[in-house]
Amino acid sequence: MKVLAILYNGFNAAVKEPRLLGTVENKLGIDKWLASRGHEFIGADKEGPNSDFEKHIVDAEVLITTPFHPGYLTRELIEKAKNLKLCVTAGVGSDHVDLNAAVDHKIQVLEVTGSNVVSVAEHVVMNILTLVRNFIPAHEMIERGDWQVSDVARNAFDLEGKVIGTIGAGRIGYRVLERLVPFDCKEHLYYDYAKLPVEREQAVKARKIDDIEDFVSQCDVVTVNAPLHEGTRGLINEKLLSKFKPGAWLVNTARGAICDADAVAAALKSGQLRGYAGDVWNVQPAPKDHPWRTMKNPLGGGNGMTPHYSGTTLDAQARYAAGTKAILENYFEGREQEPADIIVGVGETRSYIK
Ligand code: NAI
Repeated sequence: MKVLAILYNGFNAAVKEPRLLGTVENKLGIDKWLASRGHEFIGADKEGPNSDFEKHIVDAEVLITTPFHPGYLTRELIEKAKNLKLCVTAGVGSDHVDLNAAVDHKIQVLEVTGSNVVSVAEHVVMNILTLVRNFIPAHEMIERGDWQVSDVARNAFDLEGKVIGTIGAGRIGYRVLERLVPFDCKEHLYYDYAKLPVEREQAVKARKIDDIEDFVSQCDVVTVNAPLHEGTRGLINEKLLSKFKPGAWLVNTARGAICDADAVAAALKSGQLRGYAGDVWNVQPAPKDHPWRTMKNPLGGGNGMTPHYSGTTLDAQARYAAGTKAILENYFEGREQEPADIIVGVGETRSYIK
C-alpha cells in the first residue's frame, strides 16, 4: 500500500533534532515501521510545479498531512486520486481537505483529536498577554538600544478586569478559559453552537452569548478557537470588526481564513483593533508581502504574528506522530477508529460540515 505524507523540509534543524517528527527528514518516525509491514512510504514536500504531492496522489491509498504545512487536497485532486481511501491529519484541523468531495468519493478523513490542544491553549494565553501588555514593541525597543518607557507604557494594560471572549469553547477554547481563571478577568464569555454543561461553565466562570455581534461588542479580548468550515470562513469581516469594542485585541490561532485578512489589517491600522496575534494564515506559507506580516496599530505595535507553530511543539509532535500511527494501525487491522478522531467516516460526515 502506498502511504504519501506531505511534510515540510526541516533541513539542518531536523537532522540535528530528531524530535522534529513532522519533517520530510524525520518522516513522523513511521517510515521503518511501515516498510516492515510491506508498505511504501513517500515523504514529500508540496511545493513547486509538478510537485511530488501531485505526482504521488494519483495512486496513494493513504495521505497524511500536517496542518502546519498543509497539502491542500482539492476536489480536483481528489478526482485524480483513484486509490485514495484515507486522509490522516497529523494534528488537529482538516480544513485543507475538501470535506464535501471526500464524502462524495467515500474517502475517510481522520485527525489526531486533542493531540495539541494544550500546546495551542498555552500559546493563546501567551498571545493575549503579549498584546495586552504591549510586550513585543517593548522588547524591540531594547534590541534597538533604546529605553523610552513612556513609548511602550502608553499602550500597556493589565489583563485583570478585562472581558475575554472565545469563539468556540471546545477543547482549546475551554482550556484557554481554564488557564485564564487566575488572572481575575471581569468576565469570560463564549460564543458556540454548543452550550457547556452548567458545572463546566461555572468551573471557568463562563457565560454563553448567542448573538455574535452582541458577543464581540462586550469583549476586550476575542480569541478564535473554532474550526474553519463554511460557517466560519470570513466570519470576522469588516462588518463584524466594526461591532468590536474600539481598541479590542483579537487572537486567532484557529485558522487564518476565519478572518478577512484585509479587513483585519485595516482595523489594526485605524486602531479599531489595538492588536492582532496568532500563528495561522489564509495561505501557508504566507507570501512575503502578506499584510499580516507588517501591519501595525497607530502607535506602531499590536502585531503578534508568527509562523504556524503553536500546535507543533516538540511535545505535540510526539503526540500527533503516535496518534497518526495508531490511526494507521486501526486502518490496516480493520479496527474501528476512535470516534473523536473521525471528521469524515465512511460515507458520513461530522460537525465540520454544517
Ligand atoms: P473542538 O472541536 O474541540 O472545538 C471546536 C468548538 O468550536 C466546538 O465547541 C464547536 O461547537 C465550535 N464551533 C464550531 N463552529 C462554530 C461556529 N460557527 N461558531 C462558534 N463555535 C463554533 O476543536 P479544538 O480541538 O478546540 O480545535 C479548534 C480548532 O483549532 C481546530 O479546528 C483547528 O482549526 C485549530 N487548531 C489550531 C492549531 C494550531 O497549531 N494553530 C492546532 C490545533 C487546532
